[in-house]
Amino acid sequence: YEQPNSLLNAIRGRIDYKDNKIKLGGIHDWIQNINKAEILYITACGTSWHAALIGSYIFEEILNIPVKVEYASELRYREIPINSKSAVIAISQSGETADTLSAIKKAKDKNALTMGIVNVVGSSISRETDCGIYMHAGPEIGVASTKAFTIQVVILALLSSFISQKMKIEKSRSNLESIKKVPGLINEILNLSDEIFKIAKEFINVNNFLYLGRGYQFPVALEGALKLKEISYIHAEGYPAAEMKHGPIALIDDKMPVVVIVTKNGFDKIISNIQEVKARGGKVISITTIDSQNLREISDHYVYLSNCSEIDNSITPLLTSIPLQLLAYHIAVLK
Ligand code: M6R
Repeated sequence: YEQPNSLLNAIRGRIDYKDNKIKLGGIHDWIQNINKAEILYITACGTSWHAALIGSYIFEEILNIPVKVEYASELRYREIPINSKSAVIAISQSGETADTLSAIKKAKDKNALTMGIVNVVGSSISRETDCGIYMHAGPEIGVASTKAFTIQVVILALLSSFISQKMKIEKSRSNLESIKKVPGLINEILNLSDEIFKIAKEFINVNNFLYLGRGYQFPVALEGALKLKEISYIHAEGYPAAEMKHGPIALIDDKMPVVVIVTKNGFDKIISNIQEVKARGGKVISITTIDSQNLREISDHYVYLSNCSEIDNSITPLLTSIPLQLLAYHIAVLK
């Protein structure tokens, strides 16, 4: 419930809406080096890795540069062609995660430019990196990273806009307009808590959940599944919706709730994915920014996020992740 305020704190002073300019003091002096990088790596663990994946989609869409997202626990041990022409961003709420810290030390040893997106001021990762952006999310008290996830995504969106402005790419305007609307929209989504509580009641005794999303909603599906596993101890998997037919479909029956995240991008495609789930008797919980009669009819549960349909595709994860956090929370409390 702190999400809207945390977001306001994270963006305060960083977007000048008069001329849509971004200010990121912590990396300002490094922007030339960042722009010179031939490849960008983003490394992190867990929820921060999911934010990194969304960030890579935003960077590739807006900046048109190759971005590789690596689990820090893999990057630190794998042979990887990082060098002085690489920039490596480490994302960490705590700033102390051992794998992420080691990954960034390895990147430094290979003469890459290193940047941190970290919440805890003065933490090891913030000290070890060449430059960085503090998240200003406030303390993350519970084990489950929630507001940190949304703030990480918003910081990555700001960073891509900042770089694009310096590179004179004009693509980032609509995502800044969308960011402005997000805190109010999250407040509206939090009002759906009772509705989501009723859905949660039906599923406290199931053993498995599947989460599906396409494009920007795929990392959201991964994150929704992680939150459920972590706090309710129910097994859950996130999948790109179209990959479901390459394996997990075999598991779908009437005991398998399938949470599907639906936005206007790929809408028709995801409707056919839902039909595949229904054909095997799966129980569909649709989380949607599009109010569609067809979708309502084929879903067993329907959570409509009103006023969100016009939000820039890259920014929708900030909204669609909230009902998934509420679902995990209610199931965990009910259990
Ligand atoms: O502090 P960090 O962001 O580096 O932590 C990384 C993960 O351990 C963390 O995101 C974990 O996955 C969360 N507890 C999940 O809610």
